[in-house]
Amino acid sequence: MNGRTLTSGAWVEIDLNAIANNVRQIKKRLPSKTRFMAVVKANAYGHGSVPVASAALGAGADWLGVATVNEGIELREGGIQAPILILGLSHRDFAEDIVKWDLAGTICTEDEAKALSDAGIKYGKVAQVHLKVDTGMGRIGLRSHEVIPFLMRLRGMDLTALNIDGIFTHFATADEEDKSYTFKQFETFQRVIAEAHFKGFDFRLHHAANSAAALYLPQTAMDMVRVGISLYGLFPENEFNLIPALQFKTHVAHIKTLPIKESISYGRKYIADDAIKVATLSAGYADGYSRSLSNRGEVIINGSIVPVIGNICMDQCMVKVPNDLPVAVGDEAILIGSQGVAEITANDVANKIGTISYEVVSGISSRVKRVYYNGRRSDL
Ligand SMILES: Cc1ncc(COP(=O)(O)O)c(C=O)c1O
Repeated sequence: MNGRTLTSGAWVEIDLNAIANNVRQIKKRLPSKTRFMAVVKANAYGHGSVPVASAALGAGADWLGVATVNEGIELREGGIQAPILILGLSHRDFAEDIVKWDLAGTICTEDEAKALSDAGIKYGKVAQVHLKVDTGMGRIGLRSHEVIPFLMRLRGMDLTALNIDGIFTHFATADEEDKSYTFKQFETFQRVIAEAHFKGFDFRLHHAANSAAALYLPQTAMDMVRVGISLYGLFPENEFNLIPALQFKTHVAHIKTLPIKESISYGRKYIADDAIKVATLSAGYADGYSRSLSNRGEVIINGSIVPVIGNICMDQCMVKVPNDLPVAVGDEAILIGSQGVAEITANDVANKIGTISYEVVSGISSRVKRVYYNGRRSDL
């Protein structure tokens, strides 16, 4: 793809066939009855929610997961009709929108249950919800011992337009080598489900597994897996035939030779130790290219990996170009992606600045244009 014609700033290229491939590769490893929820919150981890959701559904995903009501509405407005679960809690203020837009909410209080049922009555629908159980993430949800008393209290309320369609929990350490805590969480969750069943509470959908659990602990797959990071091909790297879907790119905007001892950028954190060739790129921290990559980041230009020098600015950054590397204004510079044998992954960027690939890709800002294409189909 020739970036020169696309945009004057940074852009992201997303391979929708990679998304489809990743759904199929993960599904292959799961029991056939297990539904696949494509987690497309945070603008599909920066990849663009509607196109990614469409590609994932086309490849066999059954559900979509988002963090907020607004993200669910964005999918509906984009023409998506599949079931959508809001993974964050459904505060009563959101109840009407949840019902109006046929979203499924997540609850753990009577207040949320009542507001959703009332909204169901108002719109002549049955509000669909999933119950969140905190088995060890320490975030949202009922602690395991609170579940049965909560369900008993709901039983005593007048909730004619509420259906608890599912019950779910979330793992804190499924991506770590030591799986013992995940097993403990899973056992707790199974115990809660059994106790609820004993008291006459049954749910259609039980779900717990995120990407790491779906791939490495398929015994936790239950009725549905909720797959985010692996959908985008970012975890694990080079396993299960997953393909990273995203490349983050910009252009060379300017080239200069900097004399010895001259400095680069704000704060003068880089001083040339010789006369050097410098290329200025049209991407900065306002695009989501973290300022923490100042004097540390690397970029691919014309097949070679070159270092970021000096502080990264809001809209621009500078790289040092070897004298023997031909570079021209307008050349593509790859911040995340590959060209020939040169590759910079989202994990490489994350490792340099002490974070995770999730933050790197979801932090690519909204001003960065998303460009979609259908790459080579590896799953055929
Ligand atoms: C509740 C819930 N389920 C599933 C996921 C997907 O996790 P992953 O991206 O690790 O697959 C997330 C993401 O953070 C989540 O919050």
